[in-house]
Amino acid sequence: MKFIIEKDYDKMSRSAADIFAEHIEQNPSCVLGLATGSTPEGLYACLVKDCSDGKISFSDVTTFNLDEYCDLPVENEQSYRYFMNFNLFDHVDIAKNRTNLPCGINADDETCKNYEQAIEDEGGIDIQLLGIGHNGHIGFNEPSDSFSVITNLVDLKDSTIEANSRFFDDISDVPKRAITMGIGTIMKARKVVVVANGQGKAEIVKKAFFGPVVPEVPASVLQLHPDVTVVLDDEAASLIPKD
Ligand code: F6R
Repeated sequence: MKFIIEKDYDKMSRSAADIFAEHIEQNPSCVLGLATGSTPEGLYACLVKDCSDGKISFSDVTTFNLDEYCDLPVENEQSYRYFMNFNLFDHVDIAKNRTNLPCGINADDETCKNYEQAIEDEGGIDIQLLGIGHNGHIGFNEPSDSFSVITNLVDLKDSTIEANSRFFDDISDVPKRAITMGIGTIMKARKVVVVANGQGKAEIVKKAFFGPVVPEVPASVLQLHPDVTVVLDDEAASLIPKD
């Protein structure tokens, strides 16, 4: 596991974006795994800039997002499809039909299997971006007593509903269910990049990457992945061992 620690959010975003930009430059038809949430917004802004500066092109890139809320129409500003269009897809030269998010409308086991198959049909994910929840979730894989294997439907924990309520008018508007790549899906990505910033993430960063590998802290499983880069700002890195 490699750690890159930057002074602040902007530098963290640029540094993580550089990993993706380099990857796209070297492999223009790569398959990216993408995340939503506040942490990657700066990274996406950097990639939009790189694309408009002509440094990278998304014209042959395929993407798969980690997750989507259940039963929230894609036109809803809080849907993850809306987020991705708003923060990245609408501003780069990507073919929209190569941007994939799990479908949360009337999702069932078949929907989950189909998403898994679609990833495999594209040859798997080359590089997966992850944020980390305060409870250690990755995607919407919540603390549990086992690691999920494939794309699955989940009931969100109260702590996640609470954390995500900042984006909604009222906490009662936050969907209670979501569809997410499984831990097994994420672990199959050839490379993983985790981003985290702010003091509020310091405790979970320490627990996930320096504590025991347990399904109660889903992100801890990444310690077993052969190619993970964790990009942090000083605050998120403040509790990790220094040597
Ligand atoms: C979003 C996702 C979530 C977030 C996590 C951190 O697609 O998969 O696991 O990465 O909740 O969210 P932020 O970045 O808002 O702190």
